[in-house]
Amino acid sequence: MKYHVLTLFPEMIEQGLNTSILGRAMEKNCIAVEAINIRDYAGNRHGKVDDYPYGGGAGMVMQAEPVCAAYEAVKEKIGYAPRVIYLTPQGKVFNQKIAEELVANEDLVFLCGHYEGIDERVLEEIVTDYVSIGDYVLTGGELPAMVMIDAISRLVPGVLGNEDSGRFESFQDNLLEHPQYSRPEIWRDRQVPPILLSGHHENVEKWRRQQSVIRTRERRPDLLKDAVLTLKEREYIENMDDDSLI
Ligand code: 6GU
Repeated sequence: MKYHVLTLFPEMIEQGLNTSILGRAMEKNCIAVEAINIRDYAGNRHGKVDDYPYGGGAGMVMQAEPVCAAYEAVKEKIGYAPRVIYLTPQGKVFNQKIAEELVANEDLVFLCGHYEGIDERVLEEIVTDYVSIGDYVLTGGELPAMVMIDAISRLVPGVLGNEDSGRFESFQDNLLEHPQYSRPEIWRDRQVPPILLSGHHENVEKWRRQQSVIRTRERRPDLLKDAVLTLKEREYIENMDDDSLI
């Protein structure tokens, strides 16, 4: 998977993604991240890429031509017209399913806006997907691009480096993960649930599944409509009373 990030702040992308698991994924050539500075395509000596909005109003608008030229440089380099994701609170809200769909691409372009936005005409020309990371407003698209790159990259084979990658799937069956415990066995008078010390693998898995179902009902009941549950599990949550919810 190769990511091409069109941005006015390339160092933010470079510094933000070179650590830990993604840093190792780059060393292993599982993923590659290229930050393209839109300012390099300004077409003037001052590197100016924004101007006042027609019709008036606060702030500045990123101009169409530098953004288009930066995109065309990527297209030229890879030899085809790739998916171009524009990060905007006006987009479809990102989730695990979208990450799973996007990981199938060889290349992905992320277009990061700043200021009051980007001239609509270049968006119409090059953007294939409008994506938001949630219902709040950020100062620019860089953090959302990094969030998406992280979520997509952990789905690329070899990145997590464990055969049982399904185990790391927080949204397995659209359920939340079960709680985890490590040493010591007693911490400040709190015991690790005894079943986890029993060595009975089958019972441990049953308990974890049950915890996932209970947690999802308590913390994210909205996920249950698309959850993959057995008939028994459905019955169980339907009989869980709301008083037990946090
Ligand atoms: Cl994708 N971009 C910006 N600028 N703000 C956001 C966002 C994206 N998602 C939520 N807020």
